[in-house]
Amino acid sequence: MKLKALSLLLCSALLFQNCTSKKTETTQDSTTSTIKSIEKVDFGNLPSGEKAELYTLKNANGMVVKITNYGGIITNWLAPDKNGKYVDIALGSDSLKDYLDASPYFGALVGRYGNRIAKGKFTLDGKTYTLAQNNGVNALHGGKKGFDKVLWNATPIDGEEPQLKLTYTSADGEEGYPGKLDVEVIYTLQKDNSLKIDYQAKTDKATVVNLTNHAYFNLTGDFTKEVLDHEVILNADKFLPVDETLIPTGELKAVAGTPFDFTKSFKIGARINDPKDVQIKYGKGYDHCWVFTDTSNKLKNVASVYEPNSGRVLEVFTTEPAIQFYTGNFLDGKAKGKGVSYKFRTGFCLETEHYPDSPNQAKFPTTVLKPNETYQTTTIYKFSTK
Ligand code: BGC
Repeated sequence: MKLKALSLLLCSALLFQNCTSKKTETTQDSTTSTIKSIEKVDFGNLPSGEKAELYTLKNANGMVVKITNYGGIITNWLAPDKNGKYVDIALGSDSLKDYLDASPYFGALVGRYGNRIAKGKFTLDGKTYTLAQNNGVNALHGGKKGFDKVLWNATPIDGEEPQLKLTYTSADGEEGYPGKLDVEVIYTLQKDNSLKIDYQAKTDKATVVNLTNHAYFNLTGDFTKEVLDHEVILNADKFLPVDETLIPTGELKAVAGTPFDFTKSFKIGARINDPKDVQIKYGKGYDHCWVFTDTSNKLKNVASVYEPNSGRVLEVFTTEPAIQFYTGNFLDGKAKGKGVSYKFRTGFCLETEHYPDSPNQAKFPTTVLKPNETYQTTTIYKFSTK
C-alpha cells in the first residue's frame, strides 16, 4: 500500500515535471523582452504616439531576420555567403524615422491590394469603389496608408523555427475598399535558412485582396552597388505587357524572344536597357508581372537569383500565380538607411501575387474574396550558396 502511494507520488511528480518543461518550451510571452530565438526591443514612436516594436528572429545556423510590427517590415536579413559570412542583404533601415521619412515599401507587407488598380476605381457586385490615386492616375499598394504603414498586433512564437504572428483588422471602407478585413501574416524563420510567409484573410463583405511582401534584395550586401550582375531565373513563360502607366493591357505575352525571357539564367543587366523594347521603356527597366508556367496553386519554385561574387542564392517558392519582378528603377536616393541613400537599381524585388488590376480585368484570375471564404497564400524565400 505504502509502495503504491510512493510510486503514485513519483509518477505525478514526473508528470508535473513533464508538464512544466513542456510549458516552458511552448509558452509565448509577448511581455518578456527576451525569449529563446526571438527578442523584442522598442523601435520608436509613430506620430500617433503608438509604440513600434522590433523583433529579432534567429535560427541555429546564424540567420537573423528582424521584423517590426510597423508595416510588418523586414528591416534586416542576414544571409551567409559562400564562406559562411552572414551579412545584411535587405534594403531598409535600422531606424523607424527613415521609414516614416521616405520608404518605397522596403521589406513591407503590402495590402489590401498589392500592385496597381487602374485609375483607382473598380466595380464589384454593381457598385463602383474609388481609391486614392497615389501613383499617377492609378492606385498602388493599398493606398495612402496601406498595410505597410499601419501598426500590426504582434505575437512572437518561440521555438527552433521562431515565428512572428502579425494581425491587423482593416475597417470597412478603409482606403476605399469594401468589407472589414481580418488579416493574419505569420513569418517563420526555418531551419533551412528560409523565411516562410503565410498570409490569411477573412472579410465580412465581398472585397478584393492581393497581399505580398515588398522586400528589396541586394545579394552582394553592398547597398551602393547596382544589382545588374545578379543572375536570375523566373519559371514563367508569359508576362503581362503594360501601358505607359504600368497597367496591364490584358494580354498574356510569351516571353520567348524578348528581354523578359528568364526561363534560362540571365544577368539582370544583360537586356535591361534594350532600347528597342517599349516594355523596358515603360518600366524604366524591369517592373512587370510574370505569369508562372506552372499555373497550379501548389507551393512551387518560381524564381532563383544567384550573385556570383558572394555565391549567395535566393530561391522563391509560392502558391501565387504570378510575380512582380522590379529592379529598383525608381530608387532615386531619397530613401535612406544603414548608412546609405538608396540609388537607382541598387535592389530588386520579387513580389509574389495575383495580377495587377485584376479587379478591372475579368479575364485575369479573380482577386475577389467573399465572406464565406478564406484568403490563404504562402511564399518562401530561401537562401543557400553555390
Ligand atoms: C512597383 C514599382 C514601384 C515600387 C515601389 C513596385 O511593386 O511595381 O513601380 O515603384 O513597387 O513603389
